[in-house]
Amino acid sequence: MDNKRRVFLKSLKADDLAGDVPSVSPIVGQWLHDQATQLSATSILELGTAHGYSTIWLGDVIENNHGHLHTIDVSAPSFAIATENIRESGLEKHVTQHFGNAKDVLPEINETFDLIFIDARKRDTHIFFELCAPKLRPGGIIIIDDVEKFREKMTPFWNFIETQDEWIYETFPLDADDSVMVVRRKQRAESREQ
Ligand SMILES: C[S@@+](CC[C@H](N)C(=O)[O-])C[C@H]1O[C@@H](n2cnc3c(N)ncnc32)[C@H](O)[C@@H]1O
Repeated sequence: MDNKRRVFLKSLKADDLAGDVPSVSPIVGQWLHDQATQLSATSILELGTAHGYSTIWLGDVIENNHGHLHTIDVSAPSFAIATENIRESGLEKHVTQHFGNAKDVLPEINETFDLIFIDARKRDTHIFFELCAPKLRPGGIIIIDDVEKFREKMTPFWNFIETQDEWIYETFPLDADDSVMVVRRKQRAESREQ
């Protein structure tokens, strides 16, 4: 990431903290960037744009890989602020913002993705996961934020993920505040081993 964008992200995070916008921490932002880089991601879907902090971390990789990122948010004021931040970071050509409830918007996005980042209404995580799963390309990953902090709100999702046989999941306690989960489809051989 070039220094100008890094400086912009630093000031955006400071604004988010001052305005109580619950964006990911810089540690999680860098980690998202690393995950997308390792996957050589060219297509990313994000649920929960807020003011665009995580979008810009992920969008930086997408720009490097000449790809595209779709991001969804249901809040009109956040959508407008994110538009401005994405433009200021120079990523507007690589990002499509969708306004609306992800439950309504997701069925209209007919693409597959290398990486899907779920960071919207925590109580609906199981619904988001179900709607996103068919959009994950083979070998891709779904990342879910706040899986420990909001474990109770995510009970239906936790009940699902702990009892199913199609997905492998791992949680990473990345910072003092919270853990993220990485979910990927089992390969056939992995399914047979169990
Ligand atoms: C935790 S914030 C996202 C933070 C952002 N990913 C970041 O790290 O910069 C959650 C966002 O999800 C949005 N949201 C909540 N429910 C949603 C839904 N059903 N569909 C789309 N967006 C939703 C909220 O408006 C809020 O901006």
